[in-house]
Amino acid sequence: MMRRIDDIIIRRAGAPDMDAVSRVIASAFDDKIVAIGGQKRAGRVVPIIVGSMRGEKFIAVTGGEVVGAIIVTTEEIDPVDGNVLKVVKVLGLFGALKAWRVARSYTRSTPKRLEKEGVLEAVGVMEDHRGQGVGGLLVRRAEARLKNLGMKTFGLGVKENSEAVRFYERLGFEVVTKYHNRLGDWLYMRKRI
Ligand SMILES: CC(C)(COP(=O)(O)OP(=O)(O)OC[C@H]1O[C@@H](n2cnc3c(N)ncnc32)[C@H](O)[C@@H]1OP(=O)(O)O)[C@@H](O)C(=O)NCCC(=O)NCCS
Repeated sequence: MMRRIDDIIIRRAGAPDMDAVSRVIASAFDDKIVAIGGQKRAGRVVPIIVGSMRGEKFIAVTGGEVVGAIIVTTEEIDPVDGNVLKVVKVLGLFGALKAWRVARSYTRSTPKRLEKEGVLEAVGVMEDHRGQGVGGLLVRRAEARLKNLGMKTFGLGVKENSEAVRFYERLGFEVVTKYHNRLGDWLYMRKRI
């Protein structure tokens, strides 16, 4: 497989990068996005959630273009909290209720993080740039940051049938448990860092 990682820069995402982070994350999460009300409207919800996520965000940049992004957190987050009005404005009352149900089912089903566990909330690479090592660089960079922050483990939830399972295994994550929610069957994976 072609590897072309020389001209990729991984850096911390600042406030001006948030639109780009949202764009990348939204394009990588088509199935979740459809579950919260279709591509177009959900595309407007992602920036709200990304913007309010208190976490560590990194981006992959090549040729001045943001082609990948990752968000990790060191404590539990509630994607709905504080965003209700904004989400209702974009999705309408019914759409917001549906999104809230999905979010609640997702949050409730996901295994509790361990003490000193960093969690990968989202990682995405634009389709044209996948399979070139960008995702691996983003995960390793986030992992190093979590370690610096005193985290002892790194955990994540991934759809059971996702191609990303192999990708995470290669980065040292192991499946620790399975769970189920409105979005389907999931695996929780974890590694010591
Ligand atoms: C998963 C993802 C972040 C990996 O990023 P990447 O830059 O393609 O990853 P790398 O190049 O470092 O590693 C590639 C490996 O990822 C896996 N992979 C998963 N989805 C892939 C895709 N659509 N294209 C290419 N490789 C993919 C392959 O196993 C591949 O292994 P290979 O190099 O031996 O072929 C990226 O494919 C993506 O954004 N996918 C859609 C969103 C997603 O699934 N996010 C994670 C869900 S929790």
